[in-house]
Amino acid sequence: MHRNLSRKSSSLVIAVDGPAGSGKSTVSKRIAKALGLLYIDTGAMYRALTLKAIRQNLDLEDERALVSLAGSTKIDLEEANGVLKVHLDGEDVAGFIRTPELTKKVKYIARVPGVRQEMVKLQRAIGERTGAVLEGRDIGTVVFPDASFKFYLDADVEERARRRYKELTELGQKVSREDIKKDVVLRDESDMKRSVGALKKADGAIIIDTTNLSVDEAVKKILRFIKCGTL
Ligand code: DC
Repeated sequence: MHRNLSRKSSSLVIAVDGPAGSGKSTVSKRIAKALGLLYIDTGAMYRALTLKAIRQNLDLEDERALVSLAGSTKIDLEEANGVLKVHLDGEDVAGFIRTPELTKKVKYIARVPGVRQEMVKLQRAIGERTGAVLEGRDIGTVVFPDASFKFYLDADVEERARRRYKELTELGQKVSREDIKKDVVLRDESDMKRSVGALKKADGAIIIDTTNLSVDEAVKKILRFIKCGTL
């Protein structure tokens, strides 16, 4: 892969895509910290917008209303000492956007082309300003196709469901393993099959299978690739 500069600036932009539970968030945060870059969790942006739509009792099938909502919403991400704050019109909503109920509804927001356009605009603006590690589903394909480095993280579905279960129970949520696995499978399907911004490996992306890798091992592999060009 070439060290292409991102489209309008010479900032280092690192794209990390992959399905739910592939380790993107943990690994991306660590990479960003190691390289002194901003970490951008684009899923948190789709989640925050979903929260606003739910709070406003919007019809989630009403694409026009959702696009208008996206255009009139301010979403900011701020990471300090490993803690991500997600500001939705100024309110930190990080504590409300990871419930299983909300997670199931994000797909209604994420499939709307006009909503994605707004999100992509915002993500490019933040990434181009300072350089960043961006994680999501369409970073290497749509948001930054000319990213300096692109990675596609993947893992066996059983392992991804196990990680999600652990994550949610650690957040104090009462969930069943079986339900979590079903959710992961359904989410894979909606993420991979939507007509815009679908999850797929970007051209030139390096695939990292994290099924049998610890976080440390995955981070090491990626940093080695960025520094030396080999895994
Ligand atoms: O990464 P996550 O699990 O927090 O993402 C939640 C949902 O947001 C995911 O199922 C699909 C959507 N999403 C998206 O469509 N595009 C992105 N770049 C990031 C997330």
